[in-house]
Amino acid sequence: MNNTNHDSRKTVEDCRVDMVQLVQPEDANPLGVAFGGKVVQWMDIAAAIAATRHARRPVVTASIDHLSFLAPINIGDFVNIRAAVNYVGRTSMEVGVSIESENPITGVKNRTTRGYLTFVALDDQGKPMPIPPVIPETEQEKERYEEAKRRRELKLQWRQEELI
Ligand SMILES: CC(C)(COP(=O)(O)OP(=O)(O)OC[C@H]1O[C@@H](n2cnc3c(N)ncnc32)[C@H](O)[C@@H]1OP(=O)(O)O)[C@@H](O)C(=O)NCCC(=O)NCCS
Repeated sequence: MNNTNHDSRKTVEDCRVDMVQLVQPEDANPLGVAFGGKVVQWMDIAAAIAATRHARRPVVTASIDHLSFLAPINIGDFVNIRAAVNYVGRTSMEVGVSIESENPITGVKNRTTRGYLTFVALDDQGKPMPIPPVIPETEQEKERYEEAKRRRELKLQWRQEELI
């Protein structure tokens, strides 16, 4: 992996993030499962790291474009968080995040959460700064690239129409 700011080619794999958290009692809601806001915090951090690895610049979260809570996560579970840059525009990039719970004793894993976030890279003046394109290599990465591109087009259209 080449880590300079001037890389013109970066693969998805170069910047992928795999993080593990443990759900502590203070992370839980009154139902005894992980609080949604805490899960979003973990997502945002993993996604920001992937975006920063790609841009090698400071980045800000511009939007959380989609978030699905598919299943609850119990106190004591491991939380496996995976983030990858799906698509890069000019200064912004979409990062996809997928989360699975893992029972520490049985090892049973369950997909619990997925989301898409958009980050913008900033220059030294805090203004959006152009970043290198991302190179999808596998079939799955290529599919995600095309899907993210389509989401970006739709989002730009919705923003123009002031729907979001
Ligand atoms: C995100 C931010 C830098 C965009 O600045 P801006 O002056 O509106 O930038 P521009 O209009 O030139 O757009 C720059 C890029 O951001 C994207 N963008 C801007 N607003 C966006 C939004 N709400 N959602 C998704 N993308 C957005 C644009 O599509 C553009 O992408 P591209 O260069 O790949 O085509 C600015 O709105 C900001 O600083 N927001 C606050 C961020 C923040 O505090 N986050 C929470 C803490 S990290």
